[in-house]
Amino acid sequence: MSDASKPLVGVIMGSKSDWETMREIVTVLKGFDVAHECRVLSAHRTPAETAEYVSSAANRGIEVLIAGAGGAAHLAGVAASHTLLPVIGVPVESQSLRGMDSLLSTVQMPGGIPVATMAIGRPGAKNAALFATAILAGHRPDLREKLRRYRRDQADKVISTQLS
Ligand code: RP5
Repeated sequence: MSDASKPLVGVIMGSKSDWETMREIVTVLKGFDVAHECRVLSAHRTPAETAEYVSSAANRGIEVLIAGAGGAAHLAGVAASHTLLPVIGVPVESQSLRGMDSLLSTVQMPGGIPVATMAIGRPGAKNAALFATAILAGHRPDLREKLRRYRRDQADKVISTQLS
């Protein structure tokens, strides 16, 4: 029997300053009742703790990791190097280069260690949560049905938009 409260998605971010972006993930995952956990872990400031968290994640029941960071954003790539779990990267918008640095640091992985990189900022965080949910839905029909409903509701909203 599976434990519904056991986290399936691990959300990590390089700094507390990333939370404004990354909290979007929690909002979406809660909407789908997907158990998750969030940690601040940095590829550069806490390399050993990051490696320890990521390499033990699968054994703790985590099935997908989402990593968000800004600037020289190596967190998702470093995470991917320590696990076989799918890793989704969220480039957080930086002040100096408006997230282009984060995007390129996250997306330009060498062949062999993949990171599924989302858009810069909050849309990327939202899509990271939806992508993680889609991965989990692959072998969870109830979750697949929730995703179907989400898409239908979204389409209904677009179609019923009134312009004045
Ligand atoms: C990155 O540096 C973090 O992911 C964050 O986006 C950025 C700035 O971090 P702080 O200086 O705000 O802690 O590692």
